[in-house]
Amino acid sequence: MADSQYNFPFRHLLGIEQLCSQDIAAILNQAKVFEEVCENRDAKIIPALQKKIVVNLFFENSTRTRNSFEIAERRLSANVLNFDAASSSLSKGETLIDTATNLEAMHPDIIVMRHSAPGAHVFMARHVRASIVNAGDGAHEHPTQALLDAYTMRERFGRLDGLKVAIVGDIRNSRVVRSNLWLLTKMGASVTLVGPPTLIPTEIKETWPDAKLSHDFDEIIPGMDALMMLRCQFERGTGTYIPSQGEYARHYQLNASRMEKAKKDIAVLHPGPLNRGVEITSEVADGPNSLILKQVTNGVPVRMAVLYMLSTRANDYEQASPTNCCCLQNKKCQE
Ligand code: NCD
Repeated sequence: MADSQYNFPFRHLLGIEQLCSQDIAAILNQAKVFEEVCENRDAKIIPALQKKIVVNLFFENSTRTRNSFEIAERRLSANVLNFDAASSSLSKGETLIDTATNLEAMHPDIIVMRHSAPGAHVFMARHVRASIVNAGDGAHEHPTQALLDAYTMRERFGRLDGLKVAIVGDIRNSRVVRSNLWLLTKMGASVTLVGPPTLIPTEIKETWPDAKLSHDFDEIIPGMDALMMLRCQFERGTGTYIPSQGEYARHYQLNASRMEKAKKDIAVLHPGPLNRGVEITSEVADGPNSLILKQVTNGVPVRMAVLYMLSTRANDYEQASPTNCCCLQNKKCQE
């Protein structure tokens, strides 16, 4: 259950890197409370963010994440503004700083932001008083995806500590893997990264020395509790790092014959969107071990928990001095 003694110490959710295991557990516990709200047809909407203005600021395409945030915001009764970057002044050449200062002039309470540049959300947090939620920045972090992945695995296995998780595929371009590495290692899970050498950058080992690396998917499958498959991000140039899609699939695709090597209760995850027939076959994606749609369902209560916990620091809005916010550094707010 949610811990009534615990106060979430951050004004922003910039990444998982800044959180400790207690912060992560508190978000997951709060999400559990909201999951019950989501499942109760009579109480799907609660007034927790009434009178708050939440801006969804997506500079990069998104279906699942943006919809999930919007449903979460509406279930908390927030006033929601969707900022469509394609039809905004950005397409007329406005800079990110001008977008930030113009948004700031309208006093939003929370800005949920996705941008192709790593760190763009930190820049925004320095220029607005609103709380910033990082909904994906380049190949850097995607904290709410890692939280919903963790929620889904914890729900399935009752724990994260000691769990053996393989994250398979396009490690190079994935922000999901980086947030999951922070989260799973902080929560005591063992992570094995699997993929061709060209898709696993060597600096991964420097930041996460405890992560294991493997280029042999078939060999590691039997020892795993969960397989998290990643999309090959062809729009980010993944095609130039692999000989062909067929060759990639031969070594790293999760298909029925590889599933025969896995534990009977193996959990299969994927953040979506799926490249069916490349990193995963439809048989497995839609099969009995797949938690993929459960991940989507769980995204809503997890994002409700994040928005709610940031809003509990509401008084910070008046006092906030964006440029001096210690949440931008790798330590907790003390004020
Ligand atoms: C991921 C993303 O955008 O980083 N998807 C998502 O948020 N649902 C992963 C991906 O695009 O492959």
